[in-house]
Amino acid sequence: GSSSTISREEVVREDDPTNNVPDTVFGKIGLQLHNRKSHPLGILKNAIYSYFDETFPGVFHKVDNLLPIVSVKANFDDVLTPPDHVSRSYNDTYYVTADTVLRCHTSAHQAELLRQGLTHFLVTGDVYRRDAIDATHYPVFHQMEGLRVFTQQEWEAAGMDGTALAAQELKKTLEGLARHLFGDVQMRWVDTYFPFTDPSYELEIFFQGKWMEVLGCGVTEQQILCNNGCAGTTAWAFGLGLERLAMVLFDIPDIRLFWSNDSRFTSQFKSGQLGTKFKSFSKYPPCYKDISFWISDEFSENNLCEIVRGIAGDLVEEVVLIDEFTNPKKGKTSHCYRIAYRSMERSLTDDEINALQAEVRQQVESKLKITLR
Ligand code: PHE
Repeated sequence: GSSSTISREEVVREDDPTNNVPDTVFGKIGLQLHNRKSHPLGILKNAIYSYFDETFPGVFHKVDNLLPIVSVKANFDDVLTPPDHVSRSYNDTYYVTADTVLRCHTSAHQAELLRQGLTHFLVTGDVYRRDAIDATHYPVFHQMEGLRVFTQQEWEAAGMDGTALAAQELKKTLEGLARHLFGDVQMRWVDTYFPFTDPSYELEIFFQGKWMEVLGCGVTEQQILCNNGCAGTTAWAFGLGLERLAMVLFDIPDIRLFWSNDSRFTSQFKSGQLGTKFKSFSKYPPCYKDISFWISDEFSENNLCEIVRGIAGDLVEEVVLIDEFTNPKKGKTSHCYRIAYRSMERSLTDDEINALQAEVRQQVESKLKITLR
């Protein structure tokens, strides 16, 4: 796989007004954390590969170096995302140009791999979503997609219809995967909706006293199979988020740590060792700064978070709305956000934080059509 990063100039015209990808996010393209053998994400990916190799020897094809810049068609249309679905909005997705995005899920590769004739595959990669800022959300994370096609011969041999066989094998396979990763855990299936599967489910496991969502999956929509050279078959598909599982399996408290090059983080994990418990190196104190402003109708929290991240990068730990009120006479609404600044690696000086906060105030005022209070 390639490990080179991509420069923005290679893919975006300087003046393209459609582009909403900040440099901090663009800079993550090509890092391929999931392909580092001693990184928690690489260790987890390989543990999932081992499970599939043991359960279906020699059958699943593995793909882990596809470029995250994909067409709008591949990311949305090919997996039947409705034209008005929120995930298509500029508020939720990074558009590189009017018709290319940073993939928001690995499902973006289902159709092309089916067209290549693959019937059993696992696709791992970095995915991108505009979102809030806290310990479990980061604009880039990693997913693994699995898809497996069944032929008519297979369901007839099983004496079942094609959808029933796919649903049954899907559940059995993913329950086995959860046990492979977590040991003897309690699990439950929850019905849900995805545009690309029917029926659709989420798998939850009972972990540290709570039900935790582990993955989304379902029986692939016939239209996707028909459109991509697999008429007359059925299939199951799943997609799982690697960070959220790795945070639990390795006890990693903050999602930013996955991006750390600090050896106090990277040296704690060894290839092939799933579930080593991370020992926090001293947690430096956070510093909180509040910012209050009158919002306009166009205000979006994701846009605020993007500005903060653009300025503070990984020094921002959380942005939380702590107060909100409407002045009935003026009909205006005020929001107060508390920004937590903290480095994972060192202590920050007052001067440094004050400079960041001053820049945040200035950019929020100039870019967001709000009025600072
Ligand atoms: N793409 C879905 C997500 O990102 C996960 C999924 C994949 C669900 C495949 C069903 C089938 O949430």
